[in-house]
Amino acid sequence: MYRFDPKLHLVAKQPSKVHLLTDLGYKKDIGVSPMAASEAFQLFTPEAIQIMRKEIQKPQVHKNHSFSSNIAACQLRGYAKDHAPFTYEAWNHPDTLKFMSSIAGIDIVPAMDYEIAHINHSVKVTTASKDQSASRESLSNNKTDEDDDEKPIVGWHTDSYPFVCVLMMSDCTGMVGGETAVRTADGRIIKIRGPTQGCAVMLQGRYILHQAMRARGAQERITSVTSFRPKSALAPDDTELRTVRPVSNLSELYYDFAEYRLKMMEERVEAEREKMRAHRVRGDAMDTLEHKEFLGKMVRFAEQSDRELVEEGKVQKGYIV
Ligand SMILES: [Fe+2]
Repeated sequence: MYRFDPKLHLVAKQPSKVHLLTDLGYKKDIGVSPMAASEAFQLFTPEAIQIMRKEIQKPQVHKNHSFSSNIAACQLRGYAKDHAPFTYEAWNHPDTLKFMSSIAGIDIVPAMDYEIAHINHSVKVTTASKDQSASRESLSNNKTDEDDDEKPIVGWHTDSYPFVCVLMMSDCTGMVGGETAVRTADGRIIKIRGPTQGCAVMLQGRYILHQAMRARGAQERITSVTSFRPKSALAPDDTELRTVRPVSNLSELYYDFAEYRLKMMEERVEAEREKMRAHRVRGDAMDTLEHKEFLGKMVRFAEQSDRELVEEGKVQKGYIV
């Protein structure tokens, strides 16, 4: 088993530019940090990428963690914790998180285990190979027909989680396109060049409208997407599971979600209790209005968790609106 060693596997080269929300004309407080989107940056070494690629080739990953939907025919989700120890460690290592946090402009952690290294896999299907290999065809998602090249893979959207980091796992020699288009507040579009192998781009995708453009000229295109949220329980959490419920093992997804949301509530209650005690020790009168405001926030937080945990029977598998 390979162990992740930041000295060998982490490059962590700062991007040439991080576009701030204010650079794009947005108010600086519409998200959880001032950043909007980074240019591509080298994150992991080629050796690390090769190990990660080996981990996603395991039969049990394909057997139990493959999902498809109306927007992508081959995704691997929720496999990292049990089947990809190197990948799991890479994304949870304090050095990786310190670096990712420096780009995000706030301390961040993976949104949840289930969202570590979600894989999007597309293979160019030529007419000749279409008939030859059913297994190859089953791995093809986003059509790579020349006609579709200028169209985005998914239209303008925001993500489920505050931050998203897209890591390129494929050799991009000869690949054209694959940019991330980001919309500014006044409707202009800036394009962020697609990352090359081992490189990544980061986006405060929950708050910024964006779309991924198609890539052309590549035989395969494998991207690994890891989502992040603020580490602090006191930061807002607008996570919504809308775009991931239909392509998830709901039990696993919901366990992860419910657990971290409960942990956040615990920490918020603890912080409020300590604050109240400190006021009392100081001899202050009870600030009833302030405490009622806190209770209201907790109720809304619990209601939000409740809304996101849609009963299994009501989730349409494989269909993302
Ligand atoms: Fe997105």
